[in-house]
Amino acid sequence: MTLLCITIFSCQSGTDPAVYPIQKQSISDKAMVVTAHPLATQAGLEVFKKGGNAIDAAVAVKFALAVVYPRAGNIGGGGFLIYRGKDGDIAALDFREKAPLAAHRDMYLDSLGNVVDGLSKDGHLSVGVPGVVDGMVKAHQKYGKLPFADLVAPAYKMAKEGILITQGEAEHYNKFQEDFQTLNTQKNVFTNETGFKKGDPLIQNDLAEVLERIMKEGKAGFYEGKTADLIIQEMKRNNGIITHKDLKQYDAVWRKPFQEPYREYEIISMPPPSSGGIALCQIMNTVEAFSISDMEFQSKEHVHLVTEAERRVYADRATHLGDSDFWTVPRKQLLDEAYLAQRMENFDPNKATPSDSIQAGNIAPPESEETTHFSIVDPEGNAVSVTTTINSNYGSKVVVGDAGFFLNNEMDDFSAKPGVPNQFGLVGNEANAIEPEKRMLSSMTPTIITKNDELFMVLGTPGGSTIITSVFQTFCNVAEFGMGLKDAVHRKRFHSQWLPDKIFIEEGSLTENVIKELEGMGHVVEVRKPIGRVDAIMVLPDGRLEGVADNRGEDHAEGL
Ligand code: DON
Repeated sequence: MTLLCITIFSCQSGTDPAVYPIQKQSISDKAMVVTAHPLATQAGLEVFKKGGNAIDAAVAVKFALAVVYPRAGNIGGGGFLIYRGKDGDIAALDFREKAPLAAHRDMYLDSLGNVVDGLSKDGHLSVGVPGVVDGMVKAHQKYGKLPFADLVAPAYKMAKEGILITQGEAEHYNKFQEDFQTLNTQKNVFTNETGFKKGDPLIQNDLAEVLERIMKEGKAGFYEGKTADLIIQEMKRNNGIITHKDLKQYDAVWRKPFQEPYREYEIISMPPPSSGGIALCQIMNTVEAFSISDMEFQSKEHVHLVTEAERRVYADRATHLGDSDFWTVPRKQLLDEAYLAQRMENFDPNKATPSDSIQAGNIAPPESEETTHFSIVDPEGNAVSVTTTINSNYGSKVVVGDAGFFLNNEMDDFSAKPGVPNQFGLVGNEANAIEPEKRMLSSMTPTIITKNDELFMVLGTPGGSTIITSVFQTFCNVAEFGMGLKDAVHRKRFHSQWLPDKIFIEEGSLTENVIKELEGMGHVVEVRKPIGRVDAIMVLPDGRLEGVADNRGEDHAEGL
């Protein structure tokens, strides 16, 4: 299938047209959907045409992503949803995976107490109890307008009739073929000995059957009956520990949204088990005290200040943050102005502070990072910000036999052993130790921001540990550096997280000169692959909506 690239559409690589046209920026006065895949964006817009609201659209988008974006947008994972109604009512839904009942603190250690490489990351033992389906059911029960089955139907149709594989997806499938083969014993549609190429059709009959059961039975279509049996059969093939009981008692929970003022703005984001809301506001409040808006964008002063703030905030994250159902999170203290000021007392504007209080070795930048975020505003002005994940690319790489979806490897987000970094280089401690039914600490930061009590921005991103700093930079670029949304999302980013003691930068972000200056101050600067994939919506001064899809992926923004 060849589609022409119309001027406003950008193609993925040079003159080679994208399988589905991709639009990076859209302005509309009615409604907006920005997601990781053009077909998922379309699924959301179709809902509006049928009179559905933002939550209806979120449900349709989520299930569509499970079909068109299996590497991240999957029903085998979990996530968070932030909602703000047109009248200002807010809600936060936690459908994060949970540790299975048989999980225990030392389950990834060998007899000498060392972490067994890869055990929390690949294969059946790395899987947390999935939360996506119950999350969508609960969101819909509370706010949905259209029948649930109608919202799953477009995904079902795409799974059954097939979609075309994009360039990005083909590359990813091919990259992980060996893992798919090693970690699976059952036939699945993601394995292809001759390799996938752009434009190949992908028909997912097994997944279609699962979606059909979800359409007919709702939550029970996944957590009970045939789908549950297939998940448990898959678990038994290779030492997985999830049981029928784990599935049956999975429950997504509504939590009090994290809410914190910042100048004339209000940040509405995810509370624990996400570290996102707290850490984001810790960084913002720390840098605000140093008049960041007076600094030159990505100058050594700017990068140094933000790095020093992030260093301290990620150190707090490692010690103080975990699932608040199991651990007392000192939220108030962490955001206390005097506390944040005291944390910066040893800040030297000319010198890096070494992150040497933990003996974790320097680890390589993350090998793989896949999660997905989407932002939605409906014609009435209701807003939804959703980030979901199966953790790594294709999660545990395990496809449920005869059910056709990947299971997450979210157990790696726990701290397998105090001070030992996970795949994102994040270290943790007691607060995030493994316990049965506990939710692993997350960095996902789906966020809605108001300005003078009116909706202002809806944003979020994948990117593991870089999620928090990418959300921070996007908002900061607008609020402090006066950028428009497109620049704010597309400008190159940098990231630091206490350990490893480095500033990671995207190629082309900092100038050679600034890099030299930072190195002269004692920082280690390292170029890495793209940071984040922000999909955002902003309300323009005239009330219209601007949607921007990150140019780091095949993401697509479109309004009504
Ligand atoms: O919840 C978390 O923080 C991680 N599981 C997110 C992983 C992620 O963003 C990978 N993606 N790009």
